[in-house]
Amino acid sequence: MPTLSISGRTYFYEDRGEGLPVVLLHGFPFSSESWWPQLEAPPKGVRLIVPDHRGFGHSEPGEGPATMEAMAEDVLTLLDALRLPSVVVGGLSMGGYVAIALTRLDPGRVKGLVLVDTQSFADDEAGRQRREATAVDVEAHGVNGLVDGMLPRLFAPGADGAVRARVEKLMRAQQPGGVAAATRGMATRTDGKDILSRYGGPCLVVVGDADAITPPEKAKVLAELVAGSTLEVIAGAGHLAPLEQPAAFSAALERFLARLA
Ligand code: MLT
Repeated sequence: MPTLSISGRTYFYEDRGEGLPVVLLHGFPFSSESWWPQLEAPPKGVRLIVPDHRGFGHSEPGEGPATMEAMAEDVLTLLDALRLPSVVVGGLSMGGYVAIALTRLDPGRVKGLVLVDTQSFADDEAGRQRREATAVDVEAHGVNGLVDGMLPRLFAPGADGAVRARVEKLMRAQQPGGVAAATRGMATRTDGKDILSRYGGPCLVVVGDADAITPPEKAKVLAELVAGSTLEVIAGAGHLAPLEQPAAFSAALERFLARLA
C-alpha cells in the first residue's frame, strides 16, 4: 500500500488499475479495505484511488475532531501529490459526507460525484449529543460497544455470512482515537443542500433497498438536490451496497462512468 506524509502524518491509500481516476471514500468505522470487491476487480478503464481516512486503517490520526473538511483536505493533498487535476469522487455514508465537503472546497476537482448509502443532512442537536456520548465511550472502552450497536442495522436480511464476518473484523480493528475523532467530526458537519444544489455536474446516487441507516427516502432527497442525477436502488442490500451486492453496484457504477468517458 503506498503512503503519503501529510503534515508529518502517514496517510495510506490503494491505487489500482489504469484509466479514468475514481476516488472511493470509506464509511464509518471502516477503512479502504471496505471497498474490497472493487479493489479486487477495478472496472475496466478505471484507476481506483482508495485512501484510509486519518485515524482509520493504516493512516495516522490528526489533532482534534476529524471534520469532513479535514478529511477532504487530505484527499485533495493526495490528488495534488498524484498530479490529478480532476477525478470522479465517490463516498459511502461518512465517505459521502467527505465527498460533499470536497465538492464544497474544490468543485473544479470533481468530474463526477457518486454518493452511496449516504445523506445530505447535518445532525440535529440530539444526534450531536449521541455522537459525543459515543466518542466518550469509545475513548474509555474501545470500539466494541459502537460496533455491537451498529452491526444489527448494517446489513439486509440474508446478507452473506462471510461478508458480515469480514466487516465485523474490520470494524473491531479500527483505532479508538481515530473513531472518536471522526464521531466528533461528523457531529460538526453542515447540511449539504446548498453545495449539492449548486454542483450541477454528473452525479450517481446509490442506495440499498434495505438500508436502515440512510434509507432510500434520504437517497431520493439527495437525487432531487442534484439536477440530472441518477438514482440506483440496489435490491437485497442494506447500508453497505458495494459489499452486499458488488455485481449490481459495479454495474451501476460502470453505467455511470461510461456516460462520463
Ligand atoms: C457510516 O456508515 O459512515 C455512518 O453510519 C455514518 C453516520 O454515522 O452518520
